[in-house]
Amino acid sequence: MNLLVTAGPTREMIDPVRFLSNRSTGKMGFAVARAAACHGHNVRLVAGPVALPTPEGVTRIDVTSALDMLAAVEQNLGECDALVMSAAVADWRPCHTAAQKLKKSAMRPVIELEPNPDILKTIAPRKGKKIFVGFAAETENLQEEAQRKLAAKNLDLLVANDVSQPDAGFEVDTNRVIFFTPNNPPEHLPLMQKSEVAERIISWLTNKLLRQD
Ligand code: PMT
Repeated sequence: MNLLVTAGPTREMIDPVRFLSNRSTGKMGFAVARAAACHGHNVRLVAGPVALPTPEGVTRIDVTSALDMLAAVEQNLGECDALVMSAAVADWRPCHTAAQKLKKSAMRPVIELEPNPDILKTIAPRKGKKIFVGFAAETENLQEEAQRKLAAKNLDLLVANDVSQPDAGFEVDTNRVIFFTPNNPPEHLPLMQKSEVAERIISWLTNKLLRQD
């Protein structure tokens, strides 16, 4: 399969030295890319700013902002059979990015924000037979939010993680996820290494593609 994976955070620049972002390290998305490449799949990885080495056999495209990530996904979508959006895309960006470092004395203590496009919703019209997998990072009402995002983003699989738990979600090497698919009960997976979660996602994708043929 030709797989497109996104990973890591995006950075929304306030000025050349300051930005808005989140805690994503890219570990989850890189694990998905690595697992897929190990199984012989053709993998492109759109990575936000992270400090991880490129998994062997993976083509990496580095991006900074949500708009950069959208452009890279749009550019690489055509050839892919499946997309796994594990990136933590910033929902908002500053209305203005200053060209020079803002002086402390000149800075207003308010940053005006505008919404970033939702990447999954933007590319939804190009879905066709492609399989789209999203993630949901939640701190409350996980099941309700996951079901809502599965439908709203027209996904085939939504992998939900409770990021308020110390051993799941951001930064750590482990994750505890629930698979949500349309018209099926949720599948709760136990705590496992992110590499094992990645294997489960690749196995789910492979089965789905086989059933589709
Ligand atoms: O990188 P790690 O440190 O390993 O952490 C892993 C993780 C917690 C980042 C990962 O497991 C995870 O949950 N990724 C998704 C985080 C997120 O942005 O969730 P969300 O509920 O805000 O977004 C839902 C889905 O929409 C995601 O697939 C997201 O990529 C996508 N999205 C979000 C915003 C946006 N503007 N466009 C999008 O397409």
